[in-house]
Amino acid sequence: MAEKRKILIQLDTDPQPSVFDRVVAIDGGADELFSYGGVKPENVRELVHGAIFTRGHKDLKKTALFIGGSDVSAGERLLEEVQKHMLPKIGLRVSVMLDPSGANTTAVAAVRAAAQHLPFTASKALVLAGTGPVGQRVGLLLAGQGAEVRIASRQLPRAEHVAEVLRGRVPGARISGIAVTGPADLPAALEGRNFVIAAGAAGVCLLPLDVWKKCPTLQVLIDLNAVAPLGIEGVDVIDAGTAREHVVGYGALGVGGTKMKIHRAAIAKLFESNDQVLDSEQIYALAQTL
Ligand SMILES: NC(=O)c1ccc[n+]([C@@H]2O[C@H](COP(=O)([O-])OP(=O)(O)OC[C@H]3O[C@@H](n4cnc5c(N)ncnc54)[C@H](OP(=O)(O)O)[C@@H]3O)[C@@H](O)[C@H]2O)c1
Repeated sequence: MAEKRKILIQLDTDPQPSVFDRVVAIDGGADELFSYGGVKPENVRELVHGAIFTRGHKDLKKTALFIGGSDVSAGERLLEEVQKHMLPKIGLRVSVMLDPSGANTTAVAAVRAAAQHLPFTASKALVLAGTGPVGQRVGLLLAGQGAEVRIASRQLPRAEHVAEVLRGRVPGARISGIAVTGPADLPAALEGRNFVIAAGAAGVCLLPLDVWKKCPTLQVLIDLNAVAPLGIEGVDVIDAGTAREHVVGYGALGVGGTKMKIHRAAIAKLFESNDQVLDSEQIYALAQTL
């Protein structure tokens, strides 16, 4: 009998499934792509059953799920729902990857960029605007790798809440929240930091050049905002390990190449077995092998 084709089932929480994710799915090795838009938790059971009840055990690894969409929390709810309807006790499950808004693959690429320059267990990070989907995942991964992490937000309770959630997820995490309401708060937030990952909303400058220039402990600056004004003044959007003043800089497009490579590799990985859940930590582990 002919070899079964690799089918990726795209569950997108937006009405129109992401073309970006569709292209990467094909480039990552899917032979067929079934795309569903506007997916809600109540739709998931039938979709999962369609995936797990159609092929024999040995071919289930040739079917996989990808959860995307612009609303990261909605994507996380879909992942929970997907897992509820798999039947692992009798081997009826398929692998699934979560990457709404590219949050996982972007955070992994940013943290991998920093890892090229710093031993995390001896490093102190500041994650600017670390309360968004990407920033939270950056915080999670850094804490998991042993870095000491400060999560910044314009609102202290938001930063402290994220820090608390991440401490709950990473045993022994050294992570705290800090308020940064404007440039005047930055010198204290930067004090003793070796690197900054700016994960702020598009088009918002979070770290002016004249502020970070005066922080001698800084070694690496990574900005994920590709829309001018950029998140870190003095780091260009295409920087990829570029020397800037006394630091090494990465811009959003500089990180983007690695993000694409990781995204494609994660899609390919889905088809290796039928029992994987690729969320931040698993995608980070994969990126370490690339
Ligand atoms: N390069 C890539 O491949 C790629 C892929 C995905 C995303 N991205 C980029 O990564 C960045 C983070 O994405 P995200 O989805 O996590 O971002 P987001 O949710 O839009 O924003 C992140 C945080 O920015 C802060 N913020 C929002 N508006 C602000 C303002 N006017 N002034 C100052 N701070 C503000 C908020 O934190 P507080 O309210 O707590 O201060 C918010 O939680 C974005 O720039 C996005 O475009 C890049």
